[in-house]
Amino acid sequence: MAIRSICVLPDPLLRQKAKKVTNIDSSVQRLIDDMIDTMRAVSGVGLAAPQVGVPLRVAVIEMPGEEVITLINPEIVKRQGDRLIGEACLSVPGYQGELKRSVWVKVKAQDRQGRNIRIKGEELLGQALEHEIDHLNGILYVDHVESDKLWESSSETSQEGL
Ligand code: CO
Repeated sequence: MAIRSICVLPDPLLRQKAKKVTNIDSSVQRLIDDMIDTMRAVSGVGLAAPQVGVPLRVAVIEMPGEEVITLINPEIVKRQGDRLIGEACLSVPGYQGELKRSVWVKVKAQDRQGRNIRIKGEELLGQALEHEIDHLNGILYVDHVESDKLWESSSETSQEGL
């Protein structure tokens, strides 16, 4: 297990569409372990593989006090509603913005054992699911933010690291 460095804008890796994982082999298992270490090292709530320079459809989410969720090839299958929230990204340091996210999303994916899983998320989990799946498609939260809704962040108002 190891902490990997996090790519930040304007790294072109953040803009690539990540590839589907077809074989959850030992290198993917190592990637997942390293992503969990890296996310914890920066007190993040979620991390997607492109953020550590790996263009594969893998993401991890750890809600405070809960078990890590590993998502391989995740897809949003259903979403509902809109809500306006604050957001930030580990790959866009020093900024936060306001944008619309779904009230809830349902996601299908595989876990690290290759089992099919389905997760429904609202609030921070729903936000993290949408944010990390966006990363796998080369999309950053700033793409959803109107130019006058992006601010330099201060420590008092900082958002969760996604
Ligand atoms: Co992010």
